[in-house]
Amino acid sequence: MASESEATATIEDGVRRRDFINIAAVSFAGVGAGAVVLPLVAQMNPSADVLALSSTEIDISAIASGQAIKTSWRKQPVFVRNLTPAEIEEANRVPMGDLRDAETLADRTKPGKENWLITLGVCTHLGCVPLGAAEGENRGDFGGYFCPCHGSHYDTAARIRKGPAPTNLVVPPYDFTSDTVVTIG
Ligand code: FES
Repeated sequence: MASESEATATIEDGVRRRDFINIAAVSFAGVGAGAVVLPLVAQMNPSADVLALSSTEIDISAIASGQAIKTSWRKQPVFVRNLTPAEIEEANRVPMGDLRDAETLADRTKPGKENWLITLGVCTHLGCVPLGAAEGENRGDFGGYFCPCHGSHYDTAARIRKGPAPTNLVVPPYDFTSDTVVTIG
């Protein structure tokens, strides 16, 4: 039979052990919660490649008058074209009534920079990439771009003039960062 002093020691041991178990459980929960929170915070920060895709910077200094280049923005083709004075005049001569999707060249370019025509290279019919940006490609009946899949012809302001495409080539959001650099997006 246990003496009174032995019984007291057993109770104290029991209390101490329970306290330790409780403290250990709380500490473990704290570590667990921390471990869960970190990946969630990491997931909420956009990765570097996602940020890079949201805008594209283009050096336009090497695009001579009459030339165009193909680039891309958010995985879509983009045409950047340096219109000649004759192409600008041709676009400005077209009566609005002749246009399926009535926009002036000025509506589709920046003030004072009407020679820089920047559009998505995506036909508004079914999404093919039209010809006309690369040297020697067919520019269609109106001197702009030509989509051969079902024959959509775009003029020198990349406006739809003939064929099944319902609307003009889309002008993406962009700004001139300097006279020679354009940022799309
Ligand atoms: S996708 Fe261009 S004409 Fe059909």
